[in-house]
Amino acid sequence: MNTLNSKHIILGITGGIAAYKSAELTRRLRDAGADVRVVMTRAATEFVTPLTFQALSGNPVHTELLDEKAEAGMGHIQLARWADAVLIAPASANCLAKLAHGRADDLLTTLCLASEAPLALAPAMNRVMWQDPATQDNVVTLKKRGVALFGPAVGSQACGETGEGRLLDGPELVAALSSLFKSGLLQGIDVLITAGPTYEPIDPVRFIGNRSSGRMGFALARAAREAGAKVTLISGPCHLTTPDDVQRIDVETAAQMLTTVMQHIARNQIFISAAAVADYRPRVASQQKLKKQQAERIIELERTEDILAQVSQLEPRPFVVGFAAETENVERNARKKLERKALDMIAANRVGKDANAQDIGFNSEYNALQVISANGEVKLELARKTALARELIKLIAEHYSKHRQQQEHTA
Ligand code: PMT
Repeated sequence: MNTLNSKHIILGITGGIAAYKSAELTRRLRDAGADVRVVMTRAATEFVTPLTFQALSGNPVHTELLDEKAEAGMGHIQLARWADAVLIAPASANCLAKLAHGRADDLLTTLCLASEAPLALAPAMNRVMWQDPATQDNVVTLKKRGVALFGPAVGSQACGETGEGRLLDGPELVAALSSLFKSGLLQGIDVLITAGPTYEPIDPVRFIGNRSSGRMGFALARAAREAGAKVTLISGPCHLTTPDDVQRIDVETAAQMLTTVMQHIARNQIFISAAAVADYRPRVASQQKLKKQQAERIIELERTEDILAQVSQLEPRPFVVGFAAETENVERNARKKLERKALDMIAANRVGKDANAQDIGFNSEYNALQVISANGEVKLELARKTALARELIKLIAEHYSKHRQQQEHTA
């Protein structure tokens, strides 16, 4: 099973004889569906060549912090943002010490400081080094900070001794890494998510649509599933792969999206409306392709149904989360939508083009959100939509749990 499907994994390799085992680990990570980028310390390259990892990962290997060429391509900050998780295997005693003290004197340690992605360490070293009080203190410090420690295992060591300090096997590391993404925060909860654009037909070949790619909604569906939810994803036209274990229903128009949402909403406790639903549709869709004889054509438009507002009027209603796509006055407009549509929470994003004419919000891998609710406001800084979706699902799960407690209290 592809337990790491589409996950961006940075595999950090430090200097130790177990570095040779990371070659097989790279294969296992890719077999599990991960996109792997390898970062090696200089000492690691003494044990195994970067070329081995380039061939196995299918990506260039990163070794230097101050490398002009590398920084012009995918520099350390982009790499840090790219990652869904950072796994260092093997992690030497020196690496644990540097991380525990927040040092950033090479690419790998700098990346760890610069990344908000979960960090996991698979230590491998001589048993005496592992048991040394300094190493054990570093382990305690790292665990306190939320760093995951995988292993080490007990067994015979390359140095000829037997004891604790062996790198876990590839399959064990893949399983441990996969479990990092499964929070269980929404275990047993049904979540309905809309994603993508809607297409409103003008005639059989033309439509009114928008630039939504569906990425934000699909990332939310994956994150909600990983959090244990049973997820139904209602998607407008887009070409994305359905996340594992998610029920996907494709629709085209706002009217079809409304009907499908209403057919499924009753058994869902949470509704997340990430779709960019068209606000208007042609009053009449021509049955035949329109001819271009006239110099001008006026198409009369009418409002579509507001799906989000209708769901929030239901009785009983789910916990309702809307999005606000704004080009200006992001917060003010989002607050108005929160109130007007009687939402529990709204995630506001700036959309359009940035100063370099790149898409932001819509049709981009990245986004930044301002999440507003009656309990206050949280800013989720610019990050890949996959990472952002996990943060947002965490917030939704926390707010939903409080909301449910309040409901039980007043019942
Ligand atoms: O798909 P991507 O390329 O990844 O881009 C993601 C996104 C920018 C589309 C997404 O993050 C986002 O902002 N989605 C909502 C877009 C939108 O339509 O915003 P709005 O401000 O016009 O609508 C406010 C809310 O009402 C939204 O939750 C929307 O889903 C909902 N709505 C709007 C109109 C309508 N007729 N029915 C609705 O349910």
